[in-house]
Amino acid sequence: MKVLITGGAGFKGVVLAEKLQSIGHQVAVVDTFRWGVQPIVHLANRVEFVRGDVRHGELMRKLVADKDLVINLAGIVGYPLCERYPKEAHEVNVDSVYTILSGMSKKQMFIHASTGSVYGKLEETCTETSSTNPLAVYGRTNLESEAPVLDFGGVVLRFATAFGVSPCMRFDLLPNFFIWRALNDGFIVLYEADARRTLIDVKDMARAYLFSADRYQQMKGEIWNVGDESLNVTKREVAKKACDLVGAKLFVESVGQDKDARDYEVSYQKIRGIGFQCKHGLEEGLQQILVVARLVEPDNAWRIG
Ligand SMILES: NC(=O)c1ccc[n+]([C@@H]2O[C@H](COP(=O)([O-])OP(=O)(O)OC[C@H]3O[C@@H](n4cnc5c(N)ncnc54)[C@H](O)[C@@H]3O)[C@@H](O)[C@H]2O)c1
Repeated sequence: MKVLITGGAGFKGVVLAEKLQSIGHQVAVVDTFRWGVQPIVHLANRVEFVRGDVRHGELMRKLVADKDLVINLAGIVGYPLCERYPKEAHEVNVDSVYTILSGMSKKQMFIHASTGSVYGKLEETCTETSSTNPLAVYGRTNLESEAPVLDFGGVVLRFATAFGVSPCMRFDLLPNFFIWRALNDGFIVLYEADARRTLIDVKDMARAYLFSADRYQQMKGEIWNVGDESLNVTKREVAKKACDLVGAKLFVESVGQDKDARDYEVSYQKIRGIGFQCKHGLEEGLQQILVVARLVEPDNAWRIG
């Protein structure tokens, strides 16, 4: 297949591009390289990389024209960046989805990365039909981005929060951040310790895209939560595992506020029902993150918290 990955030079994208290329697909990536080109250098001879912006209609029409599948990962990602750049977040996370789809025909496949952050803070176990309650720009723009995809007949994947290791490493993801703090400070101070989060290894995210391409006819026009109930956890559980692994101390504070106020639990029954299950657990991921964290200079330029 000819595949275009937008945002394919980011944390998820590099892992996915490498996986797709390794099993014989012809992969192209369009990205503004917000996080630099170092993460993709090893793929430069195997994947076509285009420096470009998904907001540019003419470029996107040209890039999608001959593709069988477009996987849309380009985004202003996470709570802090979206709060800092709300206009860019709306343009990239929402408007560009219309731009890209306007150049595509229904014979082509479109798989879109949304997020479980659209649920925000909900008491019930969230299914794809639950009401949504995004708390900030990141969740709101992702929720808004889903409508054009559903109208087009594409696949919307609402992912749990990623963790794990990628050539485009992030230490701002909850488990990655806890390992970083535990290692470099020797302790973690935790607010709102019992807030619930839901997690997924980046390798399982890549598997989910392959699965969705294989099952496209069955999945198109719908929303799918992607994750695993065994990775529905509290922040306290993740922090404790990170501290135990590193040999650091955990301090739980009853006063203080996490700006990212998400608190939710998600059901993954729908996608499990058609055969998708995560393979990689949190302990395995934390160990891999620790191996990398030990190599990184504390004042490095990567994303931390
Ligand atoms: N990582 C997670 O926990 C998670 C969870 C759920 C959903 N997602 C979604 O998956 C996608 C990828 O996430 P990630 O963790 O790899 O983030 P990331 O920030 O590492 O990757 C995003 C990529 O998009 C690129 N980009 C930004 N603006 C662009 C533009 N205007 N044109 C072209 N490229 C642009 C960036 O340069 C970057 O390489 C995002 O849409 C995100 O919302 C991520």
